Amino acid sequence: MTGKQDNDNRLRLDHVAIAVRNLEESLLFYREQLGLKCLDIEMVEEQGVRVAKLDLGNTHIELLEPLSPDSPVGKFLSQRGPGIHHICIGVRDIRKELACLQEKGAQLIDRQPKIGAGGAEIAFVHPRATGGVLLELSQPEPETSG
Ligand code: CO
Repeated sequence: MTGKQDNDNRLRLDHVAIAVRNLEESLLFYREQLGLKCLDIEMVEEQGVRVAKLDLGNTHIELLEPLSPDSPVGKFLSQRGPGIHHICIGVRDIRKELACLQEKGAQLIDRQPKIGAGGAEIAFVHPRATGGVLLELSQPEPETSG
């Protein structure tokens, strides 16, 4: 079958990220009412967000609070209001994945990976390529990194 490629490079749905105005207020629902465990709250200066990571078994939900109104998530909130900001697929080899997508003409935001939350290497695919949803690819930091 043409266009078929090996699926070994995709791990799973890594997370769904939701843009919120205030992490603590949002945690009232996700943690106190829904009962999810908040694993971590992390400042990711590079992307202008504070991130709460909520455990959901083999995947997680991330709540994103902008550090400033002119950050990407800040702009998203002012244009569209709170809601799903992106979904993220975990991959074993992000460079291979990006090269493959580029070769096939997919519209990427990042041609090279950058460092995201938790030290993972990440890159974004443009919503125009995906049916309107910002798609993040993430290669987790190896456990034994030094
Ligand atoms: Co993400």
